[in-house]
Amino acid sequence: MLSKEDNELLTRTNPGTPMGDLIRRYWIPALLSEEIPAPDCPPVRVKLLGEDLVAFRDSQGRIGLLGEHCPHRGTSLFFGRNEECGLRCLYHGWKFDVDGNVLDTPAEPAGSDFRKKLRHTAYPAHEANGVIYAYLGPREDMPLFPAYEWTQVPLEYTYVTKCLLECNYLQGLEGECDSSHLSFLHRSFGNERNQPLYKSDTAPVYETEDTDFGVRLVATRNSGERHYIRFSAFVMPVYGCVPAGRPTNELEGYEIHTYVPADDTHCWRYDIGFRRDRAVRDDEVHRRKQILPDYTRVRNARNHYLQDRRVQRTVNFTGIEDFLNHDACATESMGAIFDRSKEHLGVSDKAVIAVRKFLLASVKRLQNGNEPPHLVRDPEKNRFPHIDCFAYLLPADVGWRQKFDYLAPAAQRENPASYVARGKAAS
Ligand code: FES
Ligand SMILES: [Fe+2]
Repeated sequence: MLSKEDNELLTRTNPGTPMGDLIRRYWIPALLSEEIPAPDCPPVRVKLLGEDLVAFRDSQGRIGLLGEHCPHRGTSLFFGRNEECGLRCLYHGWKFDVDGNVLDTPAEPAGSDFRKKLRHTAYPAHEANGVIYAYLGPREDMPLFPAYEWTQVPLEYTYVTKCLLECNYLQGLEGECDSSHLSFLHRSFGNERNQPLYKSDTAPVYETEDTDFGVRLVATRNSGERHYIRFSAFVMPVYGCVPAGRPTNELEGYEIHTYVPADDTHCWRYDIGFRRDRAVRDDEVHRRKQILPDYTRVRNARNHYLQDRRVQRTVNFTGIEDFLNHDACATESMGAIFDRSKEHLGVSDKAVIAVRKFLLASVKRLQNGNEPPHLVRDPEKNRFPHIDCFAYLLPADVGWRQKFDYLAPAAQRENPASYVARGKAAS
């Protein structure tokens, strides 16, 4: 359990909160490229860490992420005109560029330099493989945009979905650090021969390891002479990397499930996936049909996730379709912000505990005036092959550290070439 104070500390992310300050030091997903697909297209509202913003793509294709309310008298810039390299407020015509400069104040007298004294809230944005990331922290502390593998492969090797989760971000994130729920929440019945191995041993042995990027999570299940091992990772500040939807022993990519606070009681779940070896087919992204054009889910709390009790008896554990909705039901039904002083953690919650500790230590570090972990400043070190996730069957007498030495951050630092050997090491 967490004390009420620590629960508050970890779950509140509005401007001026300790956790809000921490998350603002990192690049986080803000919206999808498809939301502002072309130069001068209509702007969209973006709610992020309790801040009301608008995003637009200007005539030159540059992305702007501005405070939603016009600094003149507060009209929403969402309704404004996106034209000639700027977003123009529809009330009195003030115009802003992507950096927040006030380009024009046409209702002021000719020759007025009033506009030069003002700068509107504007955050840096970076677009990579269908996702627009933003940095909401102090400009002088801005780190490099991290060159994660999923941002470096060709666009067609990736996929991404976005949907609203109607609860605090930490509930979603903790679900990614919890291998034991796979054996229950996501269980389906029948055809036992082809069931993933996480069903044969429902009480995995969990190892957790603090790393330079966050926490590595290793869940081992006993499968007779072999061990079934799932490698996942928590990456600062809100990324859960998991081997979702990949066959056992396949090492060609993973999924990144991200929980970005919209406000304290809602978050955006971005599921980014990538393959290292080929383009992704549309039919592989089954999650899309669960999500409506406004990024809410077809199955939600108001319709009880369309749970079917007959299906629950005969087809799967939940009576609900798709992993996305299983997770949503489990985490949203805890309430908008779960009070963790009321929980009873068991051995199976070891990874959840490790991630909370890591986050709390990071908040404290920042509060004490120190740099939090995993801010990338050295271009030479801006590569992360050791953030890798997969499920693997190993003979019971072979330790995973022997087999996958590149996962160790230290080893990777000493021997960057181990990344190149990745595929071979496991063959
Ligand atoms: S409120 Fe925006 S220009 Fe006046
Ligand atoms: Fe899940």
